Amino acid sequence: MFEGNVVRISRDVYWIGVKDWNRRLFDALIPLPRGTSYNAYLVSGEEGNALIDTVNPGFEEELERKIRSLVDPGEIDYIVMNHAEPDHAGAIPYLMKIATKAKLVATSRGVKMARIFYRVPEERMKIVTDQEKLSLGGKTLRFIEAPMLHWPETMFTYVEEEGILFSCDFFGSHLAEGVYSDDVEDLLIHAQKYWGEIMMPFRTMAQKGLEKLKGLDVKTIAPSHGPIHRKPEVILNAYKRWVYGETKQKVSIIYVSMWGSTEHMAEQMAEVLAREGIEVVLHNLTVTDVGDLVKDLVDSRAIVLGVPAVLGGAHPLIVYATYLFRILRPPTEFTVVLSSYGWSGGAIRQIQELLRDFKIEVVSTVEINGPPMEEDMRKIVEIGKSLASRIKRSEGF
Ligand SMILES: Cc1cc2nc3c(=O)[nH]c(=O)nc-3n(C[C@H](O)[C@H](O)[C@H](O)COP(=O)(O)O)c2cc1C
Ligand SMILES: [Fe+2]
Ligand SMILES: [Fe+2]
Repeated sequence: MFEGNVVRISRDVYWIGVKDWNRRLFDALIPLPRGTSYNAYLVSGEEGNALIDTVNPGFEEELERKIRSLVDPGEIDYIVMNHAEPDHAGAIPYLMKIATKAKLVATSRGVKMARIFYRVPEERMKIVTDQEKLSLGGKTLRFIEAPMLHWPETMFTYVEEEGILFSCDFFGSHLAEGVYSDDVEDLLIHAQKYWGEIMMPFRTMAQKGLEKLKGLDVKTIAPSHGPIHRKPEVILNAYKRWVYGETKQKVSIIYVSMWGSTEHMAEQMAEVLAREGIEVVLHNLTVTDVGDLVKDLVDSRAIVLGVPAVLGGAHPLIVYATYLFRILRPPTEFTVVLSSYGWSGGAIRQIQELLRDFKIEVVSTVEINGPPMEEDMRKIVEIGKSLASRIKRSEGF
């Protein structure tokens, strides 16, 4: 139901967020093919109103209009800051001005960040601790600390009477379209991408986050990006797989090739793995979407890196991808490195150095001089078969 472009998601709980249809890049790194949204919510109790998160800078007036269609900003008692990142907290200075009596509610770390990032004065902030409750009259907010999902100050806010969990970035997806997740056919693909980019490096903390939700009767999950989950079991089941590092019999082949030699090897590897019944995705780094690559890392049991030698080391695009792989910490078990060189090589050595302290089994490396010959291709077939059998023997956890 639309009322002045706000959405009533439950009794006296409204989505008042904004859609950024044309944004195409996030964190100066991640492509956003379908834009994103910054979800803010208003919870109205008999004795008070709380705003849950705000929006990205630039959308302050739109948020203000939506608030005014429901309440006078002067009647907002609390602005809950689940997360201090500017896409949700950037409008706090503007809101603190128009919501003249509102206090900013955050974790102790959140309060420190609000002081530094948004210059919020001490007397207008309220620190909350894990499981603390705040009554708005007939609506009780419960704060659940969720550190490192994905910043130190992050928390969830749960509305007890409605079973709504405001999870901020956790369970989010970069999508401008749709109000509810069942409106979007390929929602889980986007949620998987988002998980990979933002949450995958913190799998242990994410396990703790899921544990904390076990005792709650969550009817609706309302994240800060993308559609609202009114069938929470769908996203919760997906998160269980990703959080515990469940992989498929799947290989991501990530490569770059200047003159086609490495590409030949990469494509041969794709052929043999597919014939062995393994799901294969190929990412040529000169054309691939980094978000898609990251999405595939989430559930690939192995990666194959195709790396030509450049100036005594690995091609810079593969150095970049290997570095990204390391910091995102996917649950990948196996790797094979394929390389072509012209004179003295060095690409494989550099990749091995980059992966040295990363827990991954290097099943094989192949370094060939120039374009691959028939015997090189035969070798790749053998390596592909042995990689496939390693993948099939693993349980994928
Ligand atoms: C800019 C550039 C720098 C290169 N630097 C090296 C090098 O330092 N060591 C080496 O063995 N080969 C070097 N090569 C040769 C390539 O590694 C070789 O041609 C290889 O077969 C390319 O594989 P590709 O066809 O998959 O791009 C270089 C080639 C280019 C274009
Ligand atoms: Fe964030
Ligand atoms: Fe965010």
